[in-house]
Amino acid sequence: MDRIRIVGGNPLNGVIPISGAKNAALPLMIASLLTDDTLTLENLPHLADVEQLQRILGNHGVDIAVVGRRERQDSAYARTVHFTARTIVDTTAPYELVSKMRASFWVIGPLLARMGEAKVSLPGGCAIGTRPVDLFIEGLQHLGAEITIENGYVDARAPKGLIGGRYVFPKVSVGATHVMLMAATLAKGQTVIDNAAREPEVVDLANCLIAMGAKISGAGTSTITIDGVASLSGARHRVLPDRIETGTYAMAVAMTGGDVLLENTSDTLLESALLALSRTGAEIIPEQGGIRVRRNGGDILPVDITTDPFPGFPTDLQAQFMGLMTRANGISHITETIFENRFMHVQELARLGAKISLSGQTATVTGVPVLRGAPVMATDLRASVSLVIAGLAAEGETVVNRVYHLDRGFERLEEKLTNCGAVVERISG
Ligand code: UD1
Repeated sequence: MDRIRIVGGNPLNGVIPISGAKNAALPLMIASLLTDDTLTLENLPHLADVEQLQRILGNHGVDIAVVGRRERQDSAYARTVHFTARTIVDTTAPYELVSKMRASFWVIGPLLARMGEAKVSLPGGCAIGTRPVDLFIEGLQHLGAEITIENGYVDARAPKGLIGGRYVFPKVSVGATHVMLMAATLAKGQTVIDNAAREPEVVDLANCLIAMGAKISGAGTSTITIDGVASLSGARHRVLPDRIETGTYAMAVAMTGGDVLLENTSDTLLESALLALSRTGAEIIPEQGGIRVRRNGGDILPVDITTDPFPGFPTDLQAQFMGLMTRANGISHITETIFENRFMHVQELARLGAKISLSGQTATVTGVPVLRGAPVMATDLRASVSLVIAGLAAEGETVVNRVYHLDRGFERLEEKLTNCGAVVERISG
């Protein structure tokens, strides 16, 4: 199993190109199941989760062809990929594939809409809470689906096709919003989704579906209206920049000090996180095609945050922000409201000398003047990158074990950091 070795203490200076968003790429790829035409996705990040989803889509009959690469970069970087689901050969998504990644459960929406049936294993994914699928099931039932759960599989049927309906989400869910959006594009009549997720990735999916011929209005607000169409066509769509990767590197710079241009991204994707970051004393300067993040000396100021659905502070940046707060000059409070078990990084940060106490959903972080390198364990995708951030500022050597979690969501992390002066290397095996 690969590990990442970090020798902390260097400021970050230079340019970091931001990749296409993993959390947009996954639903966009799944949307290819809705049409027998070709969906072409540009700026697709090269990540373990993307590869895993390619295997799952391949199992349903999607033909996948990599057609391009960014200039002057080798094929491991963002690519342009054709997805063609000419014929759906299998409407079952088996446990062996779905258990590796929760988002693969989302194939249930397009398969049901296009084929009138889908049998999908209950999902796996990061161990950050119970993460049930009740909202997906209830939502699809409001579109006329008959659903049973047996032997670990969700069996959904709509032999005469889905029928438009109204569904008010009792709780905001990104994944269930994606699924309802995709399913409703081919339902008969109008669907209204209330209390929908407003994340930029939902808007990106809606824009792609609209390019494919779907009739959708209101994406990015709490109420989305979809007028069903008989069929969708192919389209070409560029995956939006990864706001979580953007925020992660911004926090790394705030932690180590330095001056970095985050390229191919936009401050409008993560305003609440950047606001919190600027309150810690970092300078955030939106520039043409990117964001400059700078901190030259001065204390890291303590800032309290609470995670919330978009446009609130993203749960996917909570661990990284906590990493930053471990070095703040004072006490901060970090409250997690989205997932009930998303503090697994606390124990690992403590191994580096962080002082954090937990009470329910709130972590109290007492900043320390020095962190000291140690071996630590990556526990989930975002938690593991918080250990990298802490390691970059720690004295001496930090070794992050189980980095396959990082490979799920961060494209070429060690290269991007090394190019800015960090000492980070991957140890294979
Ligand atoms: C997506 C993101 C993930 C992010 C999360 C919240 C992807 C691939 N993943 O995950 O990185 O952390 O949004 O921003 O885009 N819930 C239910 N019942 C359901 C569905 C969800 O109770 O049927 C709960 C979850 O347990 C959680 C909350 O709703 O407490 C929000 O989860 P959700 O927005 O669905 O997260 P994901 O779509 O899985």
